[in-house]
Amino acid sequence: MNSSVDPSPQSGLTQALPLKAAVVGTGGISQEHLAFLSGRAPAVGTVAGRIRLVGVCDLSEASASYASQQYGASGYYTDIAELLETAKPDVVHVLTPPETHLGIGTLCLEAGSHVICEKPITDNAADLKSFLASAAANDRHLMESHNYRFNRGVQQMRQLVDDGALGAVREVEVRISLPVTDPDGRFGDRNLPSPIHKMPAGVIHDFTTHFGYLLLNFSSEVNFHRIAAAWSNHEGRADFRYDDLDALLIGDGPHGAVHGRLRFSANTGPDAFTVTVRGSQGWAETDLFQPYVNVVRPRPGGSQLSPIVNHIANGGGLIRDGVRNLGRKILQHSPYEGLHLMLDEAYTALANGTALPVTPDQMLATSELVDRLLSDEVKL
Ligand SMILES: NC(=O)c1ccc[n+]([C@@H]2O[C@H](COP(=O)([O-])OP(=O)(O)OC[C@H]3O[C@@H](n4cnc5c(N)ncnc54)[C@H](O)[C@@H]3O)[C@@H](O)[C@H]2O)c1
Repeated sequence: MNSSVDPSPQSGLTQALPLKAAVVGTGGISQEHLAFLSGRAPAVGTVAGRIRLVGVCDLSEASASYASQQYGASGYYTDIAELLETAKPDVVHVLTPPETHLGIGTLCLEAGSHVICEKPITDNAADLKSFLASAAANDRHLMESHNYRFNRGVQQMRQLVDDGALGAVREVEVRISLPVTDPDGRFGDRNLPSPIHKMPAGVIHDFTTHFGYLLLNFSSEVNFHRIAAAWSNHEGRADFRYDDLDALLIGDGPHGAVHGRLRFSANTGPDAFTVTVRGSQGWAETDLFQPYVNVVRPRPGGSQLSPIVNHIANGGGLIRDGVRNLGRKILQHSPYEGLHLMLDEAYTALANGTALPVTPDQMLATSELVDRLLSDEVKL
């Protein structure tokens, strides 16, 4: 967990605007990347609009051509080599299924493009190390999407922790409830199996990166030396490796012991993606699907008044967040606000020659944590 990799490349990285961007894989998540690249994503604005979408690529010509039309790309391709050769992008967004990331990303790095890659960037940390080595050898950046870390609620909680408002962090819980086995959903469809089923944690692997970086976002200095992970297939569907994860991690940080809990359930509802941080002085929680931030902590006035003031503050906050969420729904904003903000920071960094918002060390620490959760010695 304390791995360190070669620092990001230093030379020649201040890129003149407009930056030339390309997208490989024009499926579901590309909508969010393309909305940002075409300047249509809400709530960002520093570099969006100063990026040129020079090409989109997909094995499906129909999908590539549609994305190109929708988002005003200069051209569309079904062959990555042709995209790289013709459009010469400064940055390529690799948005294909996970098993293709390393191969496609390496081609892009070797062609001289920086790579922003969707999670899970690779199956395991060893593959990520060779991917990062290839980026370093080509003096290019490689960044994995750690998008939920940039959502407003998580950023607000991080600020509370940094300000010491919750005291020393003692517990971090990340919990996802999603009916992934639903036959009408993209993972549960029996006729068209998702490629994610082939990952080491099956469908849950699609979420393990989020678990890892959200936990480490609040416990980066903690050495988790005791881990137990119960991977289950409660419904027993043959096409599912697992449909449930209950993991406990215990470690030591600079301010004492820290517990982590990572929980994935396909059988609890409604859909939720909560992050809870409990400190020695108070706790805070957000739900990334229905964003709110609840904060409970000692308030001026002492222990008698604190519960009442917390109640009033959280009630006011819930009303404010409710109105804000309604506005977001009307304006069709999605939980991907963090993805747009992360991309905005990444392109600003590329333009300025500064560090990208997701570092190689963060990517590797996340990947190593996922490897450990899947290792036989921690499995319950
Ligand atoms: N960060 C997030 O919150 C988030 C959310 C959803 C998906 N994702 C990730 O994004 C990636 C893609 O997911 P998706 O839901 O968009 O999948 P998808 O199946 O909807 O789209 C993938 C696209 O890639 C294309 N493709 C596959 N192999 C290709 C190749 N060799 N060359 C060109 N195109 C190719 C497919 O034709 C398809 O259009 C996955 O890694 C997934 O885990 C991330």
